[in-house]
Amino acid sequence: MVVVPGYTLLLACLLLAGFTSPGFAQQTAPTASIRVNMQEEKAPVSPTLHGIFMEEISHAFDGGLYAELIQNRSFEEGVLPPGMKLVAKPDGGLKMELESLPAGVPTNKWDMPWPWNGNCGWDTNRALIGWSLQNEGGAKGEMQLTEANPMNAASSRSLAMTIAPPDKPEGRVALINSGYWGINVQAGVSYDLKFYLRPGTYTGQLTASLEGKDGKVLATCDLGRIAPGTSWQKHTAKLKAAGTEPEAHFVLSFRGQGALQVDWVSLFPPTYKNQPNGLRPELAKYLQDLKPSFIRYPGGCYVEGLSWKSAPDWREMVCPPEERPGMWGYWQYRSTDGFGYHEFLQFCEDIGAEALYVSFAGMTVHPENNWPLDQIDPVIQQTLDAIEYATGPVSSKWGARRAAMGHSKPFPLKYVEIGNEHPPALYGDYYKKFRAAIKANYPDMTVIMSMYWSGLNPGAIARAGDDTIDMIDEHAYRDAAWIRSNFDYFDKYRRKPWKIYVGEYASHHGGGDWYGGMGDSLYLMMAERNGDLVKMASYAPLFCNVNKRDWGINLIEYDSSRSYAHASYYVQKVFAENRPDVNLAIATDLEPKPDPNQPLLGGKFGLGAWNTQTEFKELRIYDEKDNLVYSDDFKTLENWETPGTGVWRIENGVLQQTDDGKSPAMLLLKARRVGGSEGFLMFFNASGPDRFLFCNYGAAGNTFSAIQDRGVPDGCAFKGGRSRPGKIENERWYDISLVVKRDAAQMLLDGEVVSNARVEHLSQFFATAGYDRNNKTVVVKATSYSSKPVRAEIQLDGAGNIGRSGKHIVISSPGQYDENSLDDPHRIVPRELPLPRVSEHFSVELPPYSVNVLRIPATAK
Ligand code: AHR
Repeated sequence: MVVVPGYTLLLACLLLAGFTSPGFAQQTAPTASIRVNMQEEKAPVSPTLHGIFMEEISHAFDGGLYAELIQNRSFEEGVLPPGMKLVAKPDGGLKMELESLPAGVPTNKWDMPWPWNGNCGWDTNRALIGWSLQNEGGAKGEMQLTEANPMNAASSRSLAMTIAPPDKPEGRVALINSGYWGINVQAGVSYDLKFYLRPGTYTGQLTASLEGKDGKVLATCDLGRIAPGTSWQKHTAKLKAAGTEPEAHFVLSFRGQGALQVDWVSLFPPTYKNQPNGLRPELAKYLQDLKPSFIRYPGGCYVEGLSWKSAPDWREMVCPPEERPGMWGYWQYRSTDGFGYHEFLQFCEDIGAEALYVSFAGMTVHPENNWPLDQIDPVIQQTLDAIEYATGPVSSKWGARRAAMGHSKPFPLKYVEIGNEHPPALYGDYYKKFRAAIKANYPDMTVIMSMYWSGLNPGAIARAGDDTIDMIDEHAYRDAAWIRSNFDYFDKYRRKPWKIYVGEYASHHGGGDWYGGMGDSLYLMMAERNGDLVKMASYAPLFCNVNKRDWGINLIEYDSSRSYAHASYYVQKVFAENRPDVNLAIATDLEPKPDPNQPLLGGKFGLGAWNTQTEFKELRIYDEKDNLVYSDDFKTLENWETPGTGVWRIENGVLQQTDDGKSPAMLLLKARRVGGSEGFLMFFNASGPDRFLFCNYGAAGNTFSAIQDRGVPDGCAFKGGRSRPGKIENERWYDISLVVKRDAAQMLLDGEVVSNARVEHLSQFFATAGYDRNNKTVVVKATSYSSKPVRAEIQLDGAGNIGRSGKHIVISSPGQYDENSLDDPHRIVPRELPLPRVSEHFSVELPPYSVNVLRIPATAK
């Protein structure tokens, strides 16, 4: 019997020597054949395919693309979103809840289930985030937030300070802003400072400076003597840096006496295209370099709001930045909206992209908290006004506002999406109503219907009606292995009157590693070759400040001074730069094939529990002929090892199993739960504490049992793992058993099957072909998951004139799980190689783990 006082995931492993990892024993070098038929054109590739999606998440704008250097510049961070109130949590903390429920929604419907409860956490400490006060040389200062004497209607709070003078000449009250995890100060660069003071009773000197961690002054500006007064005064200055420090801070130094108020402190470095209220140049450049055909904005969950009162309203953003109230966003921080609707449209124009605006649909992130459909007209009007702002004549109300914001010409708004990821079928009715109103006024506008995280929302589609939908936004956060076994996903898609926009896609693996990047290349191939259906696609999320990661896998990451793009970025760039006009018929093959007899399941067996105390006894292992090959009554634990955490006291031991590894092995065991919140874990195919398959009895808070996957062997996919609902009870002995075959496993509880799973080989090679008419070039895209170089044999059937040489653009990495990082930003980037001696039949070597574009100048016969 093993007693497991579990408080975390415990893993004990029995070494089963006969189980081996699956191999792709390739003695001969792999060879891929790629046969392109230049006479057979397939679907056109959508010219608008490659775009961008941007949302305020992980400090994508504030502390990211938007170049503002002061965090919490208007002291509004602690302002509750409209429609919300704070309530006490049992742990003493506070959380937000709706002030009141919409009419007709019973209180018990408002239990804030996941994911909404996660986003209703409230951190009172954030109110002054970014700011601190330091008293030096005997000076005495205090600060607190105040709602008295607001600076303007948008500013509900400011900072009230009391100052007593220093007794040493070098003394001061230093009001410090840390920026967004440091301010990047570069020698020779000028920074534009703007802030507002209500001097109150204060008399004394004021200085602004940028200072390093050790107190070194990098830039300073004397703002002179401040005299008492009761009106808000604007101060501007330039701070020219004499030194460099990537994580400096900003300081307002007070040497005087009295009580005053400070608000709206803003500091800008030089910006993209030197625009006022502009963008961080190198982050904007990443986007410009992608040459996206469109940009989707502003969300994402961000558009939904926690309550319908707290959904972002673009109308509050088309004014000077000081007059924008900002909004507490879904990702648990407040947005300044400095990068607002106007700036978004301006950026689209700047980089030649069409604008895709996502409007609030009147449905929030909580399915019950919706604007009633029969009262939705004001929300529809808000959307119509957004279109008018972007495209209307200057004689129109909102066109005039656009002109007042400095842009008389219309902006290139081509698409409007109604809301984001609303699962109820009822959403179909909302879409229909919005679309009818938009089409009545703007018949050429493409009105996009949003789906959920992945796949379609058939209920909503049915309610809206196929014929009154322009385009559907199907999100696709997919496991990178899913893509390898679903390469024909769009090929099989039933064509309807509407088209597809994949508004958010990402192949998830690691922290955004090369395996994920290769998955994205497949996803884009799938989209390109179904250009009759898939018109647009954008990766998500786009940006992440590494100091506040709201989402695991992102495209571009940065801190205050450094940035890098994940390999997926380069995949998109290379695909966009090499987008053919039309697909060509292609046939591919890879030799040698994997040995069909080789076992795919192997590795080690283990026992464990998650937050649960369990006992195990009577372990029995049988071979396929029902011969008992191992038994353990746990008198000693010498055959076990404990690679994970826990209190297992097990010596290293090895069972020399005589089975050849192809046969099924059955494990039988008695187990009982003594206490805790879940049931038993039985691991198999384990190669370590991070990589295993497992029978999870009483998973997810003791609600179901299933075989689950934490890492199949390299090159394999996990299939199945169906679950059976039910609980594991305390103090009851269960028979738990597992049958493992060459490529399949069965999980049993008291003799009954609760879950089956299979593991199968994934294809290692994928390719598409197309034709670039302008450049008279065949474009072959090929992704190889082989760990060895692949010799690709290219055959161009039906080719007429073929140029002598082409181009080979390749992105590869020696390890499939390699990643770019802040410290190693260019580890995985595209390289351009010559492609000499091309002909009707030629060969080229594709590196291990590579995404390749072959450009072959050729015309059809
Ligand atoms: O991209 C991150 C989030 O994922 C988006 O806000 C949402 O639309 C999706 O669920």
